[in-house]
Amino acid sequence: MAKRPKQRKGRAGGTRPGKPVSASRVEMVEVVLPQDANVLGNILGGRVMHLVDIAAAIAAHRHSNSHVVTASVDYVDFRNPIRIGELILLRSHINRVFRTSMEVGVKVFSENVLTGQRKHTTTAYVTFVAIDENGRPKAVPPLLLETAEDRRRYRDALYRRRIRLAYRYKRSRSAEDRRLMDDFN
Ligand SMILES: CC(C)(COP(=O)(O)OP(=O)(O)OC[C@H]1O[C@@H](n2cnc3c(N)ncnc32)[C@H](O)[C@@H]1OP(=O)(O)O)[C@@H](O)C(=O)NCCC(=O)NCCS
Repeated sequence: MAKRPKQRKGRAGGTRPGKPVSASRVEMVEVVLPQDANVLGNILGGRVMHLVDIAAAIAAHRHSNSHVVTASVDYVDFRNPIRIGELILLRSHINRVFRTSMEVGVKVFSENVLTGQRKHTTTAYVTFVAIDENGRPKAVPPLLLETAEDRRRYRDALYRRRIRLAYRYKRSRSAEDRRLMDDFN
């Protein structure tokens, strides 16, 4: 049975019914074409980031059933190149929801169609904010955690949020975040 993290009324959608991580998970696949690549025949980093944004946005749309905007991309790395003719696979999932925002994790893989070999090429964390018809942030449903992996991602997302908000607001929201942590423990 899906585990719902303890939540303070009014936070992360308050008493609204939650949605499991699996309900918004996304898998996307594309072939790498010459126009996506640099002169070495490897996919451009900017093209990967574009696809990461789309895969992450779809997960955020599915979870919130709402319009969303990208608030931040706080981590992207490129571990292995992806060559022209290979497949690029993207998997995205909601790691944690706060009140109006959602952290989405995206993992990217290459697949060689001749050998079937897959390599993990990129990890990224993207935060989306759900907005209403007037463009104002609106609360999103709570997230239901189903697996040990869901719970690990949920815990880790809080640390990343503290760092990104410290940069954004030039101060730490540590009191609020301590409350969130207490809610989970
Ligand atoms: C993102 C945006 C809606 C935030 O609006 P805001 O007036 O700063 O709103 P608030 O300070 O009330 O924050 C609203 C939520 O955004 C989150 N947020 C704001 N900046 C953030 C950032 N850099 N990283 C992560 N979350 C952020 C806040 O934590 C809050 O989430 P919570 O309710 O879950 O705690 C607004 O800055 C915006 O519209 N930005 C442009 C988005 C866009 O056009 N993106 C496309 C690429 S340009």
